[in-house]
Amino acid sequence: MNVMTAAVLKAGRGLKRDFGEVENLQVSVKGPGDFVTAADRRAEKTLFEELSRARPGYGFLMEESGAVEGSDKSHIWHIDPLDGTSNFLHGIPIFAVSVGLEREGQLVAGVVYNPASDEMFVAEKGQGAYFNNRRMRVSARKTLGESLVACGIPPLAGIERHARFQTELAAVMAKTGNIRRLGAAALDLAFVAAGRCDGYWERGIKPWDIAAGIVLVREAGGFVTDLDNGSDMLSKSAICAGNEAIHRHLLDTLRKA
Ligand code: IPD
Repeated sequence: MNVMTAAVLKAGRGLKRDFGEVENLQVSVKGPGDFVTAADRRAEKTLFEELSRARPGYGFLMEESGAVEGSDKSHIWHIDPLDGTSNFLHGIPIFAVSVGLEREGQLVAGVVYNPASDEMFVAEKGQGAYFNNRRMRVSARKTLGESLVACGIPPLAGIERHARFQTELAAVMAKTGNIRRLGAAALDLAFVAAGRCDGYWERGIKPWDIAAGIVLVREAGGFVTDLDNGSDMLSKSAICAGNEAIHRHLLDTLRKA
């Protein structure tokens, strides 16, 4: 955890500097609504260098540079150097550095850090989850009616997913009008873990967006599955999370939609 938090804090310091001068950053378009900036690349380089130095041989799966195989096949870092790039570019301080660690196919540690608010969410398998060094737990709400539910909107490119999302959104809205689209999946999951949001779902999501957050939610006492109630969130690019009751109600609503 020390290695991860140190690397994330260093990358976060760079992002905070770049956020202060965001209008000078060069932006490239990867796809509809999908951007990358020098800030993403710099943060990714920092994470790659720091983590490689501390744990030589571990592999990487990174948003901007893709997969880098390591000599140690049992460990993989899942890295999103800047989750919430659109928020960042629009001066909205809801973005995060997200680092998850997979060991022998299991997600075992996660760190999500929002440099703008200096909020650090960390968890290690079997050791609980912490928000700024204080233990965090998922919320205790039991019904969708009283819940705040976060979601993600699939990219325009996945037009079929879009239609599916609209149906799901209507079904969830019929049970709770209290819906948020924060724009940073790692923070959606961190907020579920901290009990700020009661549930979250998204289709078309990438492993680096959710690997760390999955550990946070589980260690905070919550449930995370794919949308078929299995544990293939990373390969199916679909996720549903929440406290036990809200996860069950949300998944049930989505599957009937
Ligand atoms: C995006 C954000 C967004 C989610 C997208 C992600 P990025 O990540 O997490 O909330 O809806 O699916 O791709 O591109 O800002 O790192």
